[in-house]
Amino acid sequence: MAAATDVTTVSISINGIPLFVPKGELIVEAVKRLGLEIPIFCYHARMKPVGMCRMCLVDIGFKQQDGSVRMMPKPQAACTLPASEGMAVLTDSEQVRKDRKGVLEFLLINHPLDCPICDRGGECPLQNNTLFYGPSTSRFVEIKRHLPKAFPLSRYVTLDLERCIQCGRCVRFTEEISGDSELAFRFRGALMQPSTFELRDFADFEPVSLPS
Ligand code: FES
Repeated sequence: MAAATDVTTVSISINGIPLFVPKGELIVEAVKRLGLEIPIFCYHARMKPVGMCRMCLVDIGFKQQDGSVRMMPKPQAACTLPASEGMAVLTDSEQVRKDRKGVLEFLLINHPLDCPICDRGGECPLQNNTLFYGPSTSRFVEIKRHLPKAFPLSRYVTLDLERCIQCGRCVRFTEEISGDSELAFRFRGALMQPSTFELRDFADFEPVSLPS
């Protein structure tokens, strides 16, 4: 008997355009089939979604038993939403645009606004998302929080605590990709920061032996 290769597909609509996608495909991936893009920070296709940054909010509706689609009262994170039959997604509604502006304004409250001298040299998702989806002004007029620059986690790894947006990608990388779990978040709220355990140097850890 031939091996079953069929992928169950579901019918969804994105911005009113109907399409079929594999059941369970994350909405942040499904929209790419239409050449659309949802802004992201914490999502990475090769790591488990965590929905930490809220940058990927979309309006979402679910099919009801009577065939109608009921929209959720608040936007949801597209990186954690698996596609299901009859789902309706709006990536560019007025509410979504407003919420994206709010997320970016919030992230930039304490972020340095020194792009012209930043060592990222313009290779910056925060700068790009702010340009395309962010507010043109900020209501925040207070003094920004200042934290250590180039905080050393090891001889080779430094952390710019002022620029960290707590997306958790570095922490998840050590947990899911390199497998050494050298990083974790410490503290909570505005003080939360990625760190090695008790600020131990990376070099203190034994290399992980890979399965043969
Ligand atoms: S990209 Fe979806 S919550 Fe961060």
